[in-house]
Amino acid sequence: MRKIPIILDGDPGHDDAIAWVLAKGSPTLDILGVTAVCGNQTVEKTTYNAQRICTLIDLHVPTAKGRLRPLIAEPIIATTVHGESGLDGPALPEPDFALEDVDAVTLMARLITESKEPVTIVPTGPLTNVAALLLAYPELKSKIKQISLMGGGVQYGNWTPAAEFNILVDPEAADVVFSSGIPIIMAGLDVTEKAMIFPEDFERIRALGNHVAVIVADWLEFFYQFHRGLGYEGAPVHDAVAVAALLKPEIMEMRDLYVEVETSGDFCRGATVADFNNVLGKSPNAKVLMGIDRKAFVDLLVEAIATYGEEKA
Ligand code: BDR
Ligand code: CA
Repeated sequence: MRKIPIILDGDPGHDDAIAWVLAKGSPTLDILGVTAVCGNQTVEKTTYNAQRICTLIDLHVPTAKGRLRPLIAEPIIATTVHGESGLDGPALPEPDFALEDVDAVTLMARLITESKEPVTIVPTGPLTNVAALLLAYPELKSKIKQISLMGGGVQYGNWTPAAEFNILVDPEAADVVFSSGIPIIMAGLDVTEKAMIFPEDFERIRALGNHVAVIVADWLEFFYQFHRGLGYEGAPVHDAVAVAALLKPEIMEMRDLYVEVETSGDFCRGATVADFNNVLGKSPNAKVLMGIDRKAFVDLLVEAIATYGEEKA
């Protein structure tokens, strides 16, 4: 089977963690490396979380710490959503492997250079590392097949009325990525808030009984507690949609649109503005996901998590 070579770049984070569980449990993806970025928590914490997640899911690939802070903006962290550690909830194993002794950007550049095939990057946090990569190594753009990211929303935001967290944290980085010319799959709030996992699904996952399933169910419970306070009936597992879009695009509704990132403005900094009426006459730069077959998404997740209970070959 021909596998899609990917790099996971995120700020784990409960939904980042579940996205990575999905990626590792999916036979069609070849994870070349993992990089952590400052976002939900400081980069020290997200890197440590990345190592703990990779240890849990037995993902032993080159892993590196990313940028300390956004390109220009001051950091914003999301303690209210993910806790002090950035991944509060169930106890996790301590890292059983060391980080690469290079930073995330250098590691990504190395992995992309060494790959025989163009690589897909899957960012599920602020786009700081990815933008820094594109700025430092513009010659590698042709070796990046696409960027399947969680971020933005063409209808509304979640940290301001106009902006979603990942884009708001580093709008300048998002602007570099959206204007790069590299094909983008955008899993924004338009779709990720429909990728809802309900409490009955948590139990279905827990019942799989393997060590990863139990932790994922606990992560979902934790993530849900925050969202329940906002009136949600389940946990929107935003970041897993960026992975699912590579595995099962047929369960998504998508629109080809030209999307720009607002980097200034009093009210709209960090907004992802889509030209629905093609007023600018520009070619689309993103496949914007607008809908998802929720049940098929849950089935996909369950199928991937079930693989952690299988005997290793
Ligand atoms: C995004 O913000 C973070 O808190 C989540 O991990 C996700 O990537 C959703 O707005
Ligand atoms: Ca994230």
